[in-house]
Amino acid sequence: MVVAAAPGVHLPCDAAVGNRPRQDERLGNPPRRRGRRAGAVSVRVVLAVTAASADPADPLAGLVVGDRPDPEPEDGWVTVDVRAASLNHHDLWTLRGVGIKEERLPIVLGCDAAGVDAEGNEVIVHAVISSPGWAGDETLDPRRSLLSEVHDGTLAAKVAVPAGNVVPKPGALSFEEAACLPTAWLTAYRMLFTNSGAAPGGTVLVQGAGGGVATALIVLGRAAGMRVWVTSRSEEKRAQALGLGAHEAFESGARLPDRVDAVMETVGAATWSHSLRSLRPGGTLVVSGATSGADPSADLNRVFFLQLSVVGSTMGTREELGRLASFCEAAGVRPVIDTVLPLTDARTGFERMLGGDLFGKVVFTV
Ligand SMILES: NC(=O)c1ccc[n+]([C@@H]2O[C@H](COP(=O)([O-])OP(=O)(O)OC[C@H]3O[C@@H](n4cnc5c(N)ncnc54)[C@H](OP(=O)(O)O)[C@@H]3O)[C@@H](O)[C@H]2O)c1
Repeated sequence: MVVAAAPGVHLPCDAAVGNRPRQDERLGNPPRRRGRRAGAVSVRVVLAVTAASADPADPLAGLVVGDRPDPEPEDGWVTVDVRAASLNHHDLWTLRGVGIKEERLPIVLGCDAAGVDAEGNEVIVHAVISSPGWAGDETLDPRRSLLSEVHDGTLAAKVAVPAGNVVPKPGALSFEEAACLPTAWLTAYRMLFTNSGAAPGGTVLVQGAGGGVATALIVLGRAAGMRVWVTSRSEEKRAQALGLGAHEAFESGARLPDRVDAVMETVGAATWSHSLRSLRPGGTLVVSGATSGADPSADLNRVFFLQLSVVGSTMGTREELGRLASFCEAAGVRPVIDTVLPLTDARTGFERMLGGDLFGKVVFTV
């Protein structure tokens, strides 16, 4: 979007966001100016959802929905017109000041998006940004970042990423569905198919059935021929998990009918002990999150006596994202979406996630 304004005057330029303070006042960035005619300047701006400040106690205080300068791609980067973007806990952590330095703010939030590149190709954006010169599994690059940590993220009408950070969007998936894949679904894919060692016919336990990663684990595990058991504190979420394809659903902490081959853990402290107790000898606990706390008892006696493996898992590679998209198309599975909202109403989506009562992903359309 281009706005012509007299020098020094910054006009509101998107009716959807109404009267706002000056962009440079709100976000601390000078607007980019392109061209000058008859005393006017052109300012290219896009709608974006930004973390302007961080507050551990009140994360939504720093959330700004408004204009940002168009992203300027670096050499070797491309710009994607975002059609849909999805929300992750990562975005709330950023607003709390976790995992980001204050000098990085303001920054556009968001890791996940699907859209259209400059050649008109429908693409999914891969959120893991390798450091220059890195080759191999980008999740192992110690200097990697996720979109919205160093570079502006995906909750915007446009996002700039390295040219290698897009994969083709299968035509069978809508933009909203494809926008769910890059973080929660990719994490679930790597946990199950790269790190758990579980094979079709094996039994996996998914803790905390309602989360974005957990719902992905249920759908992917079922589609791959695994027996999928889930736990949840909520009867409603247990019923929804069964509807998604889980074979059995148990109350959190319940004694299981049998030991499982692998446990998928994202809840953390609240379920850790149950996860270790649920594994068969030689089983694998894959952990990618710790929503309820990161310091449970390690229960080392159980770990070594039963020869359990505890495997950390984070995000996935571009290649895994491509395979995940193909898997969804080939197996006919689709991401679970809780809510779809216009990007202008992003605050409502953040409030829903903060309320903690989600079943699946919150998606914003542009
Ligand atoms: N490493 C990575 O690459 C990566 C990627 C994505 C996400 N993550 C992390 O993974 C975690 C999961 O994220 P998410 O968005 O999928 O889900 P989430 O909303 O954080 O919730 C996961 C589940 O945790 C359970 N839970 C929360 N607090 C609990 C408590 N006090 N006691 C018992 N259960 C509790 C809830 O299950 P019930 O209500 O069903 O019991 C909830 O559905 C987050 O911490 C996120 O930061 C990591």
